[in-house]
Amino acid sequence: MRKIVINGGRPLKGSVTISGAKNSVVALIPAIILADGIVSLDGVPDISDVDSLIDIMETMGATVKRSGDSLEIDPRGVKDMPMPFGKINSLRASYYFYGSLLGRFGQAIVGLPGGCDLGPRPIDLHLKAFEAMGATMTYEGQNMHLSTNGKRIHGAHIFMDTVSVGATINTMLAAVKAKGRTVIENAAREPEIIDVATLLNNMGAHVRGAGTEVITIEGVDKLHGTRHQVIPDRIEAGTYIALAAAVGEGIRIDNVLYEHLEGFIAKLEAMGVRMTVSEDSIFVEKQDKLKAVSVKTSPYPGFATDLQQPITPLLLKAEGTGTITDTIYEKRVGHVQELANMGADIRVLGSRISYQGPSKLNGTHVKATDLRAGAAMVIAGLMAEGQTEITNIEFILRGYSNIIEKLKDLGADIELIDGAE
Ligand code: UD1
Repeated sequence: MRKIVINGGRPLKGSVTISGAKNSVVALIPAIILADGIVSLDGVPDISDVDSLIDIMETMGATVKRSGDSLEIDPRGVKDMPMPFGKINSLRASYYFYGSLLGRFGQAIVGLPGGCDLGPRPIDLHLKAFEAMGATMTYEGQNMHLSTNGKRIHGAHIFMDTVSVGATINTMLAAVKAKGRTVIENAAREPEIIDVATLLNNMGAHVRGAGTEVITIEGVDKLHGTRHQVIPDRIEAGTYIALAAAVGEGIRIDNVLYEHLEGFIAKLEAMGVRMTVSEDSIFVEKQDKLKAVSVKTSPYPGFATDLQQPITPLLLKAEGTGTITDTIYEKRVGHVQELANMGADIRVLGSRISYQGPSKLNGTHVKATDLRAGAAMVIAGLMAEGQTEITNIEFILRGYSNIIEKLKDLGADIELIDGAE
């Protein structure tokens, strides 16, 4: 069993560079299946979700070359073959193979997606959109069969009942090579959606309105190869900003787009966090007194659910009481008990988390219950007195590129121990 061991209480300083966005790249890689030529991606994060996607792409017949943070993918050899449950279940974003395989072949046999357990995570909106575009669906065991019965998938007018990142992107993937026009209403507006639309358009697609509530896609017959720079990971950036405010003595976070983080930064400002925003970097000063605030997550551009857990240790440093309400994933509370085990005054009260600060954290053995809860454990470990051992770290490595190296460069006493009991 691998674990991360942190000796806390050390002040961190220096600079850290943010990697390409996980939630973009996990859609960009499946999107490449739709191209009739080689597509290169630059700024690809070194995370295990990317390793899993490359493995799946190669199994399907794509040729993949990886060099540093660049990927070159030739999807022309991809075969219309079943992609059963095993590999697919290692990550949630494997649902993007539904849209891209449907768009390319008009059919797909793909296992059900996995990912972090944040409570119920249905994919009904994805499936409703595919159905409206002429696909039929059947389940066989843990696999989903999607088919247009030999016909080309067609455009449709789709209203999303709930704002969903995955369903919006998946519908775009299925629609770019469909016959006719697709309109997605009540679309999600996350920056990753714009990033995927940019790649598709650079491949020759006609996607308009990405980043707004209405996206219109005119289907085309062919898409060509291109080169694309992945946007910076706003969740990784938010994690390092929270960490810098919690334990930093002056940390500059580079490769950040401030406009992707406005909801988050506004909250930090309300806490009294002092920082300076430049064109593509944010400098976080050493903090004195922080004020407790309440946090409520909402779809972009609101406070991201993915930052709710990473900000929690910082909230515990602030004076006063506050609540955290996750309106997207009510059950995203795995970090709460672990933080309480470290001595924090925090609990789940109905559909909210309630905390009282400042709490003194003590190092102990904790678990990363999911990816972003894992990030919270790392920050808490850096804040705590004594040694913190984090297990279940596979979650953390799914989404944080080179986290150990980046933190060591800032002066953290942190090690990844392989094969420990
Ligand atoms: C994506 C992100 C994830 C983030 C989440 C919300 C990726 C790979 N993951 O996940 O990190 O936490 O957005 O910002 O990009 N829903 C339905 N039916 C559906 C789909 C979603 O009811 O068919 C609900 C979900 O249960 C949730 C809400 O809609 O309450 C938003 O989910 P969604 O945006 O789809 O999340 P994901 O795309 O899975």
